[in-house]
Amino acid sequence: MKRSKIHALLKNGSALESILIKGWVRTRRDSKTFSFIEVNDGSCLKNIQVIADESLSNYDDIRKLSTGSAVAVQGALVASKGGGQAWEIQASCVDIISMAPDTYPLQKKRHTDEFLRTIAHLRPRTNKYGAAFRIRSELSYAVHHYFRQRGFRYIHTPIITGSDCEGAGELFRVTTMDMTDIPIENKKPDFSKDFFGTEANLTVSGQLSAEMFALSLGDVYTFGPTFRAENSNTRRHAAEFWMIEPEMAFCDLDGNMDLGEDLIKSLVRFVMEECADDLQLFARFVDKALMATLENIVSSGFERLPYREAVDILEKASRKFTYPVGFGQDLQTEHERFLTEAYFKKPVIIYDYPKSIKPFYMRMNDDGETVAAMDVLVPSIGEIIGGSQREERLAVIESRMKEMDMAGEPYWWYLESRRYGTVPHSGFGLGFERLLMLVTGITNIRDVIPFPRTPGSIDF
Ligand code: 4AD
Ligand code: MG
Repeated sequence: MKRSKIHALLKNGSALESILIKGWVRTRRDSKTFSFIEVNDGSCLKNIQVIADESLSNYDDIRKLSTGSAVAVQGALVASKGGGQAWEIQASCVDIISMAPDTYPLQKKRHTDEFLRTIAHLRPRTNKYGAAFRIRSELSYAVHHYFRQRGFRYIHTPIITGSDCEGAGELFRVTTMDMTDIPIENKKPDFSKDFFGTEANLTVSGQLSAEMFALSLGDVYTFGPTFRAENSNTRRHAAEFWMIEPEMAFCDLDGNMDLGEDLIKSLVRFVMEECADDLQLFARFVDKALMATLENIVSSGFERLPYREAVDILEKASRKFTYPVGFGQDLQTEHERFLTEAYFKKPVIIYDYPKSIKPFYMRMNDDGETVAAMDVLVPSIGEIIGGSQREERLAVIESRMKEMDMAGEPYWWYLESRRYGTVPHSGFGLGFERLLMLVTGITNIRDVIPFPRTPGSIDF
């Protein structure tokens, strides 16, 4: 017999004579002649209740079923007599696939997020993490759906690269050199002897490659893992995270902001509509204000203001900040959150940042001092999107790279796109984990990625 998923059974419109489910025991409680077993198979938040009675041949073993044990249950789907759920299973056979000893760490009680991080291999079996990772999966699908509907092509940009897109030097090196016997030339490692014949690293962003395809296919996006050796232990930074990066030919900064705002609203709306059950858990137990926050995001026009005005607001604010504000200083999380949570009380897009705090590829504005950058800030997280119009003028980008002391050589191919048929184009990166934090109310990035990678931590 084919296994049914609990998700489908609970939505079933009528009783069924014979079904098979497989899953894990959440709890068991016994009456005189019955056992009630709550089984979860991960297909949805809800368990299904199985009623096993003493006529079953292995009833003695069934009465020993412990939390975490795996079972296959055959029986009839019948209307539930108890409250709470529409359907339950009257078992004709309970096959014990494996019995979990009572050392199983997820006994029925509340566990802290900190504890669950130490058992990241088991935490998806809890209600909260099961829900979080189902939402993660649904939202990935929604990203592809969103872009496909709008004619964007999906580009697989490389994971191993020879360039540093953001120029921040936060690179994980990729090498096959023997660490105990590194070839040295002029007191430096001789990378000509390394696998690629030159230095290589894990990508910090797929943007530079995506630009080449935007300048070929028009509208494109990449959605994949990115890596940053940023030694900051914050609740919104991970060393490995996923980024959604659209890139559009013939598009300026306004068009870029429009897409960023529309993408966030569409994805939030998708979760509200398609993940309602799982979302309810977060609204009830994780963040009581979650639904109001999400409603606010989908219904507000995002505030758009130049960096200069944002700095003015921050300088005049009565709030005391830990980090200084002033033109030329990067905005810190506390500043971003003040603007979106306290001042505007809705998402904010800040644009035209000073060139001194932004990467080489951003388009120079006429003032010679700012670039056509934009960051989208949302409540409780701060920056969720970073992007810009790209510098399409060869002479300008070359002089900018010189000014920043960048070696031009690794970027020869990138610069050719400015030589042959260059056009205005724009794009951005949306941090997928930060989006998940936004829609679930989960406050630590470690809890929205299956196996988080952060400084000093690579278990699992
Ligand atoms: O602002 P960032 O650094 O922009 C870029 O990398 C551009 N090349 C993207 C582009 O234009 N195609 O990063 C973009 C977003 C941030 O706004 C944030 O949401 C997320 O990526 N992000 C991180 N998320 C988790 N952990 C980290 N260490 C992150 N660094 C950036
Ligand atoms: Mg940024």
